[in-house]
Amino acid sequence: MVLDGGDALALQQAAGLLAAGELVAFPTETVYGLGARADDDAAVAKIFDAKGRPADHPLIVHVAEPCDAERFARSVPAVARRLMDAFWPGPLTLILPRADGLAAAAAGGQSSIGLRCPSHPVAHAVLAAAQQLGVAGVAAPSANRFGRISPTLASHVVSEFGDALTVLDGGACELGIESSIVDCSRGHPVLLRPGVLTRARLEAAAGEPLLAPDADAPRASGTLAAHYAPNAKLRLMSQQMLTSALQLLGDRPMKLAVYSRSVPLGAANGVRHRRMPALPDQAAHELFSVLRELDAEGVQLIWVEEPPADPEWDGVRDRLLRAAAS
Ligand code: TXA
Ligand code: MG
Repeated sequence: MVLDGGDALALQQAAGLLAAGELVAFPTETVYGLGARADDDAAVAKIFDAKGRPADHPLIVHVAEPCDAERFARSVPAVARRLMDAFWPGPLTLILPRADGLAAAAAGGQSSIGLRCPSHPVAHAVLAAAQQLGVAGVAAPSANRFGRISPTLASHVVSEFGDALTVLDGGACELGIESSIVDCSRGHPVLLRPGVLTRARLEAAAGEPLLAPDADAPRASGTLAAHYAPNAKLRLMSQQMLTSALQLLGDRPMKLAVYSRSVPLGAANGVRHRRMPALPDQAAHELFSVLRELDAEGVQLIWVEEPPADPEWDGVRDRLLRAAAS
């Protein structure tokens, strides 16, 4: 059932469901999340069940106010404090040492916990209303089945889980790709997942460089090589490769779409072309929607022009590389 996220009664109803241990999907500024109260392991188990996600993959706990996060953390390292001050509420997840005995299922059994204070008004409103009913935080992965593209519209969530799930509709997510994740639980901060906040901005606020994840970094399904996959096979190519591949294209056995910033030269009739925005934030905003639309049109093969090497494109490039890996 889709409820209007701008409606006060709908927000109360959704908060009541969360308090009762039920699942509610809600919009954030990044993507839609599939929420359950984080302090109830049985409620959290419903998330893993619905998504088909392995129970040892940790979830992010969402809180209404930055200070609410501290309840779930054993300690808040100084670098995490600086990042919170700079970017919360907003599209940043921090991994902190987990408070003993809290949210064990949400943390996938890790001794750390992922925390985020989203800025989306509907997310804030439902988290605040749930808190009034005793819900300290809401565990929520992206509201898609395991390995699939994250949803950026309420209708995407319905197409993943069907009508029985309660979904708060907040329109299209502004940013469109998932939050940046910085692990502050292991000494030096580590950038586990790039998002729309650039590394340069994160490092300026952190006051120190962010390291790259090493081999024994904790499992993060958003960091698996093959993730965010459309049904269609996706290939990333330079503009030059794309042009030659299109010129060589003979009789096409497959339904092909091209997603590129440049207009492809010599594209044969019948090749579907979508223009990728020239600005990274706009490209992020529409990326997952475009992949879903192409899937819905029955496209079997998507040739995507590689984004520019500029660090502003790190988040989009990361999602495209993972989609191409599966
Ligand atoms: O933008 C977002 O972050 C969205 C919205 C709904 O907030 N959420 C999201 O959740 O993308 P999910 O579960 O799809 O991705 C969360 C990532 C996963 O890669 C997970 O493994 C990682 O965060 N993560 C969560 N807790 C962790 C922990 N304690 N240690 C390491 N990674 C963790
Ligand atoms: Mg996800």
